[in-house]
Amino acid sequence: METHAPKSAVNILLSNILVRLLSFCVLVLLARFAYFVAVKGQSCDSLNFCFFHQTVESATAVADAAANSDRRRAYYSSVFQDLIAEGVLSTNSKSLCIETLSGEEVVALREIGVVNSVGISSKKLSLEGIRFAKEFNQPFKNLTFDFEFSSTTGMDRTLKPVQFALEVSRTLKPGGFFVLHTESVTDKYSFHSLLQLFDYFTLINLREIDGLDSLAISEIIFRKENETVNHAARGTPTKGKTANKCFVPRYKRQLIRNLEPLIKEEPLKPWITLKRNIKNVEYLSSMVDISFKNRYIYIDVGARSYGSSIGSWFKHQYPKQKKIFQIYAVEADSTFHDEYKMKKGVKLLPYAAWIRNETLFFEINREPSRKNEERGRAMGRVHAVQSSSNFMGDLIEGFDFAVWLKSTVVERDYVVVKMDVEGTEFHLIPRLIETGAICLIDEMFLECHYNRWQRCCPGKRSPKYQNTYAQCLELFSSLRKSGVLVHQWW
Ligand SMILES: *[C@@H]1O[C@H](CO)[C@@H](O)[C@H](O)[C@H]1NC(C)=O
Ligand SMILES: *[C@@H]1O[C@H](CO)[C@@H](O)[C@H](O)[C@H]1NC(C)=O
Ligand SMILES: *[C@@H]1O[C@H](CO)[C@@H](O)[C@H](O)[C@H]1NC(C)=O
Repeated sequence: METHAPKSAVNILLSNILVRLLSFCVLVLLARFAYFVAVKGQSCDSLNFCFFHQTVESATAVADAAANSDRRRAYYSSVFQDLIAEGVLSTNSKSLCIETLSGEEVVALREIGVVNSVGISSKKLSLEGIRFAKEFNQPFKNLTFDFEFSSTTGMDRTLKPVQFALEVSRTLKPGGFFVLHTESVTDKYSFHSLLQLFDYFTLINLREIDGLDSLAISEIIFRKENETVNHAARGTPTKGKTANKCFVPRYKRQLIRNLEPLIKEEPLKPWITLKRNIKNVEYLSSMVDISFKNRYIYIDVGARSYGSSIGSWFKHQYPKQKKIFQIYAVEADSTFHDEYKMKKGVKLLPYAAWIRNETLFFEINREPSRKNEERGRAMGRVHAVQSSSNFMGDLIEGFDFAVWLKSTVVERDYVVVKMDVEGTEFHLIPRLIETGAICLIDEMFLECHYNRWQRCCPGKRSPKYQNTYAQCLELFSSLRKSGVLVHQWW
């Protein structure tokens, strides 16, 4: 009897441990289940992670994949049959499906009789007729195809939309069709950006259709021509148009109307009002899709230190739609130059933005003297050398910003400019307009310098600048009237 007692004690201990272990395991499983349901928003049957009936699950997954594939094939089959009915595609067309993820587009084409069909995919698919190639680098000779197709996994997802379009243009025969399915043409701005990529193409049709998952997408049909097609010219009023005047399409005027209103009244506390206004800003990139652009460029004119606007505002607050922006910092003050050597992706232009290439006098406040304060000279202001004999400062190189801009960016680029140039805006903006360089700027943040009320001394205006708030307001309104999406920067 004695011997049984410890045994049963051990048994009890063991079963206690077992029960605890078991409940621990159940808890862990429950927690994982809860995590997957709550965080991933999925339940077990759509998941590769599962704790019961693993084999049943993977069999279901295979069946699901097959059903999915059938569904995709049926979908593309009906899309292509519609295109045949419209004469965009024929059974004789030599056809290419660009960036097909699992090949159903090509299978569908062949099934409905377009036998001369191939595809390219950036995934290695072991399917006949599908080659492993990038969507922006087609492995085909010039003028090969009569018909090319890109589903929403093609043009919408490419990192190189310009090269993508150039390749379509290269391998398609004149008279051939390019049909694009896209989710990114949701506004006129993105539609216009897309048209600009296809300058050898006439737009045949743009319509809304059901996508694969029944959500609406756009189907766009282009026909390749022998010559370039000027899309912007369609419906353009040419009356009184001068060479450098920007063409402002109606959708752009509408975007400008949707911007935050300008502050009409001169603020009594500009250091608060103007700074707060940045919260009201309606950013262009939060109103439109910017996918179909060539490069994404931010130019900070009067950048000062990296943290003052690039780091603190542009990097963190400007809506970038996951695009990588190339950044230019224009800053003449050499005290700020060193830190830019360490910044990747930021190119420093160590000059003052000016209206021509010339040496300038740059007022500097490193050792503020009484004389300097009395005259109330602003730090960082620039002006021509001959008028500068009375002031302290350095000689610096000014460059023709408008000309530089025109030689650096093109209309297909998405260009954002912030300008804080201590009053020089009253020279730079007219120069940008006169040269037409202003048309290259998609969105602008401008600080306008005027004789503002001062924080230090109630009832006293800043003696640094001669221009008035009314003149600033006029500058902003005239920019918006001439088609520039400009915001008041503080
Ligand atoms: C193919 O087309 C591209 C431009 O679309 C052109 O630059 C190139 O010279 C052409 N190649 C041949 C062999 O015609
Ligand atoms: C393009 O030009 C060639 C000759 O240069 C001509 O044979 C062909 O019909 C033209 N195609 C179209 C679509 O205009
Ligand atoms: C003006 O200066 C810029 C920047 O240094 C330079 O790239 C450009 O070639 C100059 N232009 C002329 C006409 O000297």
